[in-house]
Amino acid sequence: MNYQMAEIGTNIDQAAALLQSGKLVAIPTETVYGLAGNALDESAILDIFKVKKRPKFDPLIAHTDSLEKIKGIVTHIPEKALMLAEVFWPGPLTILLNKKPHIPDILTSGLSDVAVRIPRHPLTHTLLSQLDFPLAAPSANPFGYISPTSAQHVQDQLGAHIPYILDGGTCAVGIESTIIGFNEHEQPIVYRLGGKKIDDIEQVVGKVKLRINHSSDPIAPGMLKSHYAPSKRLIIGNLSELVPRFHKRNFGVISFHQSFDGLTADRQIILSKTRNLDEAARHLFGALRTMDQKDVEFIITEKFPDMGLGQAINDRLKRAATR
Ligand code: TXA
Ligand code: MG
Repeated sequence: MNYQMAEIGTNIDQAAALLQSGKLVAIPTETVYGLAGNALDESAILDIFKVKKRPKFDPLIAHTDSLEKIKGIVTHIPEKALMLAEVFWPGPLTILLNKKPHIPDILTSGLSDVAVRIPRHPLTHTLLSQLDFPLAAPSANPFGYISPTSAQHVQDQLGAHIPYILDGGTCAVGIESTIIGFNEHEQPIVYRLGGKKIDDIEQVVGKVKLRINHSSDPIAPGMLKSHYAPSKRLIIGNLSELVPRFHKRNFGVISFHQSFDGLTADRQIILSKTRNLDEAARHLFGALRTMDQKDVEFIITEKFPDMGLGQAINDRLKRAATR
């Protein structure tokens, strides 16, 4: 797992051959880039945990290109899950379903459910159609850091550990998939806010419960309180108040749509001049990375409107500000 750096390219056959031989490859999806390996191969899964420095209690998502293939790895699909799958796949929604016994326990951290998703990126869709196994793919970042939304982001952080990055350009959604599961009464529960809006989900299956974990309890996999974090301190607040208050300090600003006169242009990133939350989500992780690499002491940002993708943006910012 030691490489000088990863090759970046668009050769699907090369990516497929590497994955078939048990190697890891970074893949583009519409949400973020994934660090992919054969989801049925325990040693490839172990490599994913190792490269990401991810604790083994945090399970991985299995990606495929068809509902038929998903039926091969789960015992049962609740009616409402099927409705969601029909409307939103391929797309930024992950569904928790009871796994068949041949799915390795290490993939699900010993849980009885496996997380499954059909991503929408055309390159990855073609790649998955050439494979006769699903791909385990967590976001391709070191555990706890900001997720990558371009091939270069992956190269910068994991390039020395993987042979190939399939380059699919910049991610169209920019924030990880929404995760939904079902209780014993087959009622839908959302465990992670993400690229598929709650309103859209509720139009298909009715009211959903939110069980977004904001504790640091490792029993609740993946919903760790501190996550998606830049290495610099992130402060969330009212920018019109914070920017003047810190005027003697060296900080960067990430705002929704506002610009600040007293600040040089390289110290501020506006996520969407037209106040479009989808656009803001698409630019969020890239902006956090860019600011993190600048010569600033800390980063300040604000709470976004609590609607549409604004909910997922606020969730990521809150976790990024926690340490
Ligand atoms: O958009 C995405 O979902 C991206 C792309 C690459 O598909 N993947 C991604 O994976 O965000 P990752 O590993 O960074 O986040 C997956 C989350 C984790 O928080 C994990 O705990 C949760 O999904 N998860 C996976 N399997 C689970 C399960 N069986 N039960 C509960 N949570 C699960
Ligand atoms: Mg992640």
